[in-house]
Amino acid sequence: MRKLLLTTLCFCVGMHIYAGQVSGGSSDSTLRKTIGQYFLIGTTLNGRQIMGTDKEGCEIAASQFNAISPEGCMKIKAIHPEENRYDFTEADRFVAFGEKHHQAIIGHTLIWHAALPDWFCTDREGKDVSPEVLKKRMKQHISTVVGRYKGRIKGWDVVNEAFADDGTYRNSPFYRILGEEFIPLAFQYAHEADPDVELYYNDFNLYLTPKREAIIRVVKELQRRNLRIDAVGMQGHLWQGSPTVESVERAIVDLAKINVEVMVTELDLTALPAPKKDLGGEAWADFEYDASIDPYRNGLPAEVEARWTGHMLSFFKLFLKHKDVITRVTLWGVSDGDSWRNGWPVRGRVDYPLLFDRNHQPKPVVDCIIKETSTKR
Ligand code: XIL
Repeated sequence: MRKLLLTTLCFCVGMHIYAGQVSGGSSDSTLRKTIGQYFLIGTTLNGRQIMGTDKEGCEIAASQFNAISPEGCMKIKAIHPEENRYDFTEADRFVAFGEKHHQAIIGHTLIWHAALPDWFCTDREGKDVSPEVLKKRMKQHISTVVGRYKGRIKGWDVVNEAFADDGTYRNSPFYRILGEEFIPLAFQYAHEADPDVELYYNDFNLYLTPKREAIIRVVKELQRRNLRIDAVGMQGHLWQGSPTVESVERAIVDLAKINVEVMVTELDLTALPAPKKDLGGEAWADFEYDASIDPYRNGLPAEVEARWTGHMLSFFKLFLKHKDVITRVTLWGVSDGDSWRNGWPVRGRVDYPLLFDRNHQPKPVVDCIIKETSTKR
């Protein structure tokens, strides 16, 4: 076992030194130029990158990636904080960044139960609004936001996380008030606002069969009604050992059968222990901090990094194997210091889930991915 670990370590670290020009992004070989030929390779931009204060982060986002997603600025709470007030400050700059750097610009997300301001689904007394009021609000929100960026955004995550892991509908205010219809309605409103924009359904834990089957049923229902749906986005908030590459592959293969593109929309792989099984990307999770589940505050031991590198690389190999159906892979953040996983599902940990480290240097895995891309194809 130890021998295997050391071999993996030498292989990847050795390759890093050998192809060391990548360091600092100075190489001609970027993710964008290599793996980006097979599918879009994306990152999110956070507020500091959108406003230009994180210069190094911006440089990586522009040179290494050919697609961008907004980490927070297009969620309802940020872009439409009050019924009669929109705030497009960051969203406008986010779109301008993508245009400046000739990137595919992804909108995230129109209808989601989280980052949802109270006013959207409740009345002044805090009670659920009627179906008619909610439909009106959804339509107004979607047509205003999608309409504003018409022709500039490649595709929208129209509905995010509508299902529970057991395949039942999540008990969100949208489902409570409108029932199953909230999903077709959201897709209809988005298509009316921009008939040319791609429309996606996005969720986590698609490797769990009941959840995946429920999502497949909804996609088929949208197709049966002739409503546009281009892709299913699989978030990829990965854990050590879970999900397995094989179970993610099953999800890709199943989705490919229903005539939609597959996108890996929120990729990050924690190096830290999980406080609970199958958490996926459940944003509400907030477990108590304990030093025993925060073991790498002073850096990642080489052995652990080698294991992490091998693990992340195995997912990229899988994505390349299915490049005919996968049209985008987006990392949920530029560098480790930016990642939401430092604060989720336990606040205050130090995690190492992305492709660039806290000093904005490419990790060994970047060379491994580039090598994998260029040697095999
Ligand atoms: C996360 C952001 O990364 C955090 O900064 C924010 O505090 C919470 O939301 N699923 C999604 C993303 O669809 O929008 C979430 O992003 C992560 C889980």
